[in-house]
Amino acid sequence: MMADREPAASPGLRPGRWAYDRGEFVPASDARLPLSTQALHYGIGVFEGIRAYRSAHGLFLFRAHDHYERMIRGCRMLRIPLPGKPSELVDLTVELLRRNAHSEDAYVRPVGYKLSLLPGMPPGVFLSGLSDAMSILTYSLPTQRLGAGVRCGISSWRRPPRDTLPAQAKITGGYVTGALASDEARAAGHDDAILLDRSGNVAEAITANVFIIRDGHLVTPPTTGDLLPGITRDTLLTLVREAGLPVTEQPVSPADLFSADEVFLCSTGKGVVPVLAISGRDIGTGAIGPVTTEVHALYEAVTTMPGGPHAGWLTSVMETP
Ligand SMILES: Cc1ncc(COP(=O)(O)O)c(C=O)c1O
Repeated sequence: MMADREPAASPGLRPGRWAYDRGEFVPASDARLPLSTQALHYGIGVFEGIRAYRSAHGLFLFRAHDHYERMIRGCRMLRIPLPGKPSELVDLTVELLRRNAHSEDAYVRPVGYKLSLLPGMPPGVFLSGLSDAMSILTYSLPTQRLGAGVRCGISSWRRPPRDTLPAQAKITGGYVTGALASDEARAAGHDDAILLDRSGNVAEAITANVFIIRDGHLVTPPTTGDLLPGITRDTLLTLVREAGLPVTEQPVSPADLFSADEVFLCSTGKGVVPVLAISGRDIGTGAIGPVTTEVHALYEAVTTMPGGPHAGWLTSVMETP
């Protein structure tokens, strides 16, 4: 279906919402990009997904500084200068969230990208000789509770190796693999897909990292592999170590998945998501397991508890009543 010319009903573009666009705050649905935008044609952009959680204590961004550090490193690789240090980008985000006054949990989507050819540059695929841009959208997105869990397929699309597509950043063009995997998974009746790397080991899910549990021991593939070093993954590694649960970063094979007692996915957008079946085979008992439940509770507590031991992970979005 071709889009019409009216602003789409995309999250973040609702009338009344603000966006940060190329140096200024603008009504989100008014922002426009030229048809020649380089990032549209060649996928040269880096984005992030950041959460703001609302609790009785107010609205708090979670690990926003770490997300912007990852984004800045990715943008450096693509020669995209961003308009500030991580702390300045966090400040911009706080200002945008204040303007948008979300009454529930919110999702923040910054993207830095290549915009236009500079005068004298011929058309083509480059990283320099181009103008750069950055925008930020925010939208309301309630946090998924532990929920019903998901059923995954194993994708026939492999996660591109890091010498083909850098794995450390959320590079816009790289998400075509995820879109193909998602389409395939949905057509087969699955909710999500697990992508293998070139050697046949588990890389990650479409937009999430993977953990398995065997005899109470958590295992997740190492970040030296072809996977995004997820901030939720890192958060969970920290929390489970503090809780005294055994955890190792080591390669995970499809056989490890099928024989695991529990499997879960984790990401900023979705939190901790139990996987109940893979390729039609139940994982463990086929129900949400005790370790996944415990890890979910640890994550929920840290994202909503500004006074806790990880208070430094939370940034207050002070709103005027
Ligand atoms: C490909 C991919 N892997 C893993 C993740 C999880 O990363 P994070 O926990 O930083 O959100 C994401 C997040 O969207 C992702 O896109």
